[in-house]
Amino acid sequence: MAVESSIALRASNLHKLYAFGETSVAALRGVDITIEQGDFAALCGPSGSGKSTLLNLLGLLEPPNQGEIWLDGQTVDHGATEALDQLRRNRLGFVFQSFNLVPVLSAIENVELPLLMTSMSSSERRKRAESLLDAVGLADRMSHRPKQLSGGQQQRVAVARALVNAPLLVLADEPTASLDSQTAAQLLDLMQSLNRQLGTAFLFSTHDARVVERAQKLFTLSDGRILA
Ligand SMILES: Nc1ncnc2c1ncn2[C@@H]1O[C@H](COP(=O)(O)OP(=O)(O)O)[C@@H](O)[C@H]1O
Ligand SMILES: [Mg+2]
Repeated sequence: MAVESSIALRASNLHKLYAFGETSVAALRGVDITIEQGDFAALCGPSGSGKSTLLNLLGLLEPPNQGEIWLDGQTVDHGATEALDQLRRNRLGFVFQSFNLVPVLSAIENVELPLLMTSMSSSERRKRAESLLDAVGLADRMSHRPKQLSGGQQQRVAVARALVNAPLLVLADEPTASLDSQTAAQLLDLMQSLNRQLGTAFLFSTHDARVVERAQKLFTLSDGRILA
């Protein structure tokens, strides 16, 4: 169906329960969400509303207790570990609040990392990582280690790493929360321009009103539910 083919990811009726001992927390209580190809979408909501849980589920990092996820035209089978790893590796990119770069690797080695699991040749890998680092404005920092880079530069490396597999969708959990407001705005500009240039969809969580303003689509979570 032509309409369906524009959808990058869709989830329906997602529930997530965290149980510990006698108590349990319903982190998600029936979430429906659709991300279309090329979307630049924000997920906002107060701390504890379920943003990280939802991004972890959509990123196939944790299974839901109930509900379904479609990614790239297929229904995700949470029992099929290998297929799940492949989908995650080939179709998704991740950016985290704390950058999560490997400290002993250079910027370019960090960006190349997701390609090590593919059949790409080492020269092709290097070329692809170089072009991504160039795209995020770090052509002159390729051999720097993370601690030799500023926070904003580290997050740019993380954005390059998230895009190196040419994913359908990048999931970013509070990507600007560790950055000062000017650096945060620059990172948003960068993500937005890559979104337009490459057509990669982005879904980023935030509780920063200035970041929310940039989104072309907005989802608001409250108490484990998306507000209409
Ligand atoms: N691994 C976990 N174990 C137990 N409870 C969790 C876990 N992760 C999240 N929660 C709970 O689920 C709710 C939603 O958390 P989270 O998704 O981290 O929200 P947000 O990212 O919006 O701050 C919170 O009440 C939180 O305490
Ligand atoms: Mg969170």
